[in-house]
Formats: sequence, structure tokens, C-alpha cells
Amino acid sequence: MKILAIETSCDETAAAIIEEKNYRPIVLTNIIASQIDIHAATGGVIPDVAARMHTEALPTVLQQATNRKRLDFDAVAVTTGPGLVGSLLIGVAAAKTIALERKLPFFAINHLEGHVYSSWLGESQPELPALIVIVSGGHTDLVIMERHLYYKVLGSTRDDAAGEAFDKVARLLDLPYPGGPAISELAQHGQADRYPLPIPMEDQNTFDFSFSGLKAAVGGLVKSLPQPLAAHVKADIAASFQDTVSRTISKKVQMALESYPGLKTVCLVGGVAANRHLRVELEKSVRVHRPDCRFIVPDAQFCTDNAAMIGAAAVFRHLFGHSDSWYDVVVDPNAPLT
Ligand code: KG4
Ligand code: ZN
Repeated sequence: MKILAIETSCDETAAAIIEEKNYRPIVLTNIIASQIDIHAATGGVIPDVAARMHTEALPTVLQQATNRKRLDFDAVAVTTGPGLVGSLLIGVAAAKTIALERKLPFFAINHLEGHVYSSWLGESQPELPALIVIVSGGHTDLVIMERHLYYKVLGSTRDDAAGEAFDKVARLLDLPYPGGPAISELAQHGQADRYPLPIPMEDQNTFDFSFSGLKAAVGGLVKSLPQPLAAHVKADIAASFQDTVSRTISKKVQMALESYPGLKTVCLVGGVAANRHLRVELEKSVRVHRPDCRFIVPDAQFCTDNAAMIGAAAVFRHLFGHSDSWYDVVVDPNAPLT
């Protein structure tokens, strides 16, 4: 079974062909047209502009993913939410048209389920039950997955998502959008212990996250320092912030591992999982607290939004017999992970 997957939930226009082989998703093609340069000019994503860019980019992206029609496929999968409604509609309209035209099975995929299944795109596969840490621009969720396609959300962010905090702190430091890559690059030249920042909800016995207080603390710190900020000061702030986010996430993961001793794998997924410091620090923490637990973080290209992960989720929906009728499918900008 080869699946054409389409992802247009935010600011990446993406298509991929994923093949199911021996119960695993294999990436045959994976094409992403990023709108980052356009949105960098405005300092963030403008929904109407994103939708228009998807309309312009999608035909070429589809052509490239299908290798100029030389690669065939037997099913179509598409992200139906959560995301920006106008952006989602472009991908869903295209996917429905292709499925109708070719009379192919159709898979409606939750974007967060796509991030979850990015963990199955590497050599080493997760073993269930797994703890999935989703850290993206819109979400920060701790999820227990005892079996395929079923999720128990232990905790979520109460305000800003981890990626959103990176983007907002980047703005405070006059760094370009998206903030995550800019902060992690600058942080390499900084000292992480230079500015102690508060670990959000450190003493609270909850799996929820809250990053707006941390962002406000960075805002207060920036205001208290001589302006304009020197380059080395910005680097120290970036490193201190990045390290505080990593320690916050590691702490919650440690709590979850203690509460659920049967967990066999920890998977770190979503755009913020591309952050090297977080990858290294969380892995270290898991190794110390649960050396028997696998730690899986996808290749960076599968952390930020992509269609390969949507195809991977569709492979498992196919394996477990869950397909959808394209005419019943609607987009849901706020779709929860259920
Ligand atoms: O998963 P994603 O591509 O889109 C959503 O589903 O939201 O995540 C985008 C987020 C942005 O906030 C971006 O700043 C962040 O991921 N990000 C990073 C890095 N690369 C992307 N954050 C920290 N370090 C990175 N290297
Ligand atoms: Zn995403």
C-alpha cells in the first residue's frame, strides 16, 4: 500500500508518498515548500497569506512528491485539523478531489496524530506503552499511548505552547521568525546559567505546562538590562531560556515516568523537538531515571511540519482498518487528539 499524504495545516505546503512495508511506514518521497521567508517579513503567519501560498505551491509540491506522476499510490491521506481553517481547506479540497477522481481509500488525519507517528519514521521503532511529548508551535502535550491510535492526554499547556514561547522570546530579542531555530543558533554562543529563570509550575503536582510566565520573566529581564542589548547578552538570554524550557520538559517527563512505571519508550515530537539542546538534555534525563526506557526523537526534518508523518499515521490507520469516507470528512481547526 502506497499512500499520498498532504499537509497544509499552517505554513508548510507538504506532500509525501509513504509505503507500508512489514507493518512499518517507509518514506518514498517527502516534499516541503516552506513559506517561512514570506512570514518572516511580517514576523508571523498571516492566515490569508498562508492559504494563498498553499494554493500556489500545492500543485508543484504534488507533482514533485509523485515524481512527476511516475510514482503511483493506492490511497490518499490529509491533515483535517487542528490548524488554520483556510490552510486546512486547501489541502483537504485537493485530497478529496484526487480520491474521488481515482476512487481511492481516504484517510483524515489529525495533525497531532501525525506528529505522534513521526516517531515511527526512523530505524528504531517505539515500543508501547509509550510517553509521547508533543512540543510544537501550537501544542505542548504529554500523551500516554498504550496501543496504536489511542491516546490519553496527561497534561497540556495552560497558555503558550513551547514553540510559541520560543517565537515570542525571539521577538523580545529582535530575532527573526520562526524563533526556535534563531534562538537555538544564538544559544550556542551563550551561557545557560548566566540568567536564572523560573521553571514554570515547578512545585505543582500537575502534568500541565505553562510558558507565558517564563516569557514574561524574559521580558522583565530584557527591560532591566542596558539597551540596546549586546550580542553576548542576547546569546546568554537565549541559552538561559532554552535551558529552562528543556529542564521544564525533562521534569514533567520524569514525573510521568515515575507515575507510569510500565512505560517502555519516550518519544519527543513536534517542531520544538528539532532543538538540539532539548533533544540532548531530555535523552540524558531519561537515561538517568529510566535506563531501560527507549528514547526516540525523529530526524529533524520530521519534527517540523511535514507530510511524511501524516502518511505514517495513515499507514497505521490502514493497518488497523480505520479509513474514512471522503464525503463525510470536514476540517476542524480545533480538533483534539482523541
Ligand atoms: O510542529 P511545527 O512545525 O508546527 C506546529 O504544528 O505548530 O512547530 C513549529 C514550532 C515553531 O514555534 C518554531 O519556532 C519551533 O517549532 N521550532 C523550534 C526549532 N525549530 C522549530 N523550536 C526550538 N528549536 C528549534 N530548533
Ligand atoms: Zn505541527
